[in-house]
Amino acid sequence: MKLILLIAGHFTFFTLSFAADAKTLYATCAACHGANGEGVPAMQGPALAGQSVWYLKRQIKSFQKGHRGGAGDTWGMTMRAMASVLSTDEQLDAVAKFISKMKPSHHESTLPGDASQGKSLYAVCAACHGADGKGLKALNSPSLIFQHDWYLARQLNNYKNNIRGVHVDDIYGAQMRPMASTLTTTAALNNVLAYINQLSKAASSK
Ligand code: HEC
Ligand code: HEC
Repeated sequence: MKLILLIAGHFTFFTLSFAADAKTLYATCAACHGANGEGVPAMQGPALAGQSVWYLKRQIKSFQKGHRGGAGDTWGMTMRAMASVLSTDEQLDAVAKFISKMKPSHHESTLPGDASQGKSLYAVCAACHGADGKGLKALNSPSLIFQHDWYLARQLNNYKNNIRGVHVDDIYGAQMRPMASTLTTTAALNNVLAYINQLSKAASSK
């Protein structure tokens, strides 16, 4: 009995210190991603709240491996330097779980787009990102809602301009690159983002 209590006691101590670690680690991220993972436009940091553990971990690894943040990727380079803060798998796991529990919030459009025109363009995207834009793990596709449109626009342009998804080992980015190319004009890009923003608003009012 004593032994069981002792083990249980240790276990509680272990989980508590784990949670505290994640919070301390996240303090580094908050400057650019916000205390609640809402993103900090002035720092060019996207929202993280609303994103799944598996995607967060994969992206941080992508920065560490240089799949993101390579030549020409100004903002990715900023993040690449920060990704090295998470030096162990335990730290990465703890921070990703910590972020995934944050309450996501809706961010209003900053780009001029026509959501009604974007709706038909989004049909292509829905196959992988879901009709609700929440992402599909089975297709390795992240959530697109609860995100700032300026960040999504930058990523789409990065895919189109061979800045993201070009590293030979970046199999997921390589899947997304030809999809971004279906948005041939700035108007098309803005329109699809306006529609995604509408999906975000709808999800936030649920
Ligand atoms: C100095 C500012 C800064 C700090 C600090 C910072 N980041 Fe970032 N982060 C960025 C920027 C800028 C981007 C967007 C890069 C781009 O546009 O490609 C980004 C992108 C990301 C992404 C990719 C999001 C997506 O949707 O693909 C993740 C995940 C992330 N950061 C996690 C973290 C974590 C975890 C920490 C703390 C260990 C952290 N960041 C600290 C600036 C920062
Ligand atoms: C064949 C599946 C597929 C289709 C179709 C698709 N995507 Fe993606 N998308 C992905 C995958 C996989 C990723 C993650 C890539 C990575 O890890 O870098 C992604 C990533 C993204 C990102 C980056 C998100 C972030 O947080 O950094 C954006 C923006 C995006 N997709 C928008 C779109 C839009 C808009 C469309 C429709 C025009 C679309 N996608 C169609 C698979 C797809």
